[in-house]
Amino acid sequence: MNALSPRSLLTTEGMPRAEIEAIFGRARLHARGLRGGTPLRSLAGRVVANLFFENSTRTRLSFERAAKALGADVLNFNSASSSVSKGETLVDTVRNVEALGVTAVVLRHPGSGAAHLVSHHVRCAVVNAGDGTHAHPSQALLDAFTLHERWGSLEGKTVAIIGDVLHSRVARSNLYCLVTLGARVLIAGPPTLVPVGLEPMGATVVPSVDAALEEADAVMMLRVQLERQRESMFPSSREYALAFGLTLARARLLKPGTVVMHPGPVNRGVELAPEVADGPANVILEQVANGVAVRMAILERCA
Ligand code: CP
Repeated sequence: MNALSPRSLLTTEGMPRAEIEAIFGRARLHARGLRGGTPLRSLAGRVVANLFFENSTRTRLSFERAAKALGADVLNFNSASSSVSKGETLVDTVRNVEALGVTAVVLRHPGSGAAHLVSHHVRCAVVNAGDGTHAHPSQALLDAFTLHERWGSLEGKTVAIIGDVLHSRVARSNLYCLVTLGARVLIAGPPTLVPVGLEPMGATVVPSVDAALEEADAVMMLRVQLERQRESMFPSSREYALAFGLTLARARLLKPGTVVMHPGPVNRGVELAPEVADGPANVILEQVANGVAVRMAILERCA
């Protein structure tokens, strides 16, 4: 939260459980509305600007779909063809977009802290759609919502987050959100990609992927973020898949009913075997579908 834009969503860190559950309640309503073709048009006359300074498929289209379903006008911004290429600063760009009369700015940026920075310079709401390796709160909320709708509650459930935690804003945001909702979070992955300092955030770091899988009620496989790695953190993609990926053989360690999640985009054959990515335990497209309803609830909260 921020004094100038108090309805901003910057992180799940410190987000009260009641607030998360209120978003879930609205998302449930919106999911029903979307299924029935009668979404609430509570943002009619408002303008939402999608400012993406980094590539995205799911998050950008999901926020656009959510804003339009609520009746808002949507401005889409492509950093490559914008005046950013002429040297304009991020803050100046967003202040100019705000002057067009927007209610909320949805910002994705490669710099950790970009959404916080911007939120100190504008009066409109800022929704962090992923900033560097820091946070991706809407992804965490849609992931937790997906589990909540399956289980009724996350209390006492075990969620394993596996893989490139070091570079993962999704892992950090999920960890905060899942722990707040009462889940136990296990973390496992290559030692070079599991940072220190996760235990004080509520996680249990498990030395082997197999041990984490055996205990999990849900498994979140993280994308290997080669674009953020300045040096080689593991020998090869093939060795990563064999040692840390959810192969068909390793998937047999899962308890019956354990769900397999991935925020996307999936590196098929690296963190997830294709047979597992498309197998009966996967809820990857359910996550994407739920994302629209959850982002509708987030945008409503901003307005
Ligand atoms: N999960 C996610 O953030 O995907 P995109 O990069 O496609 O938005």
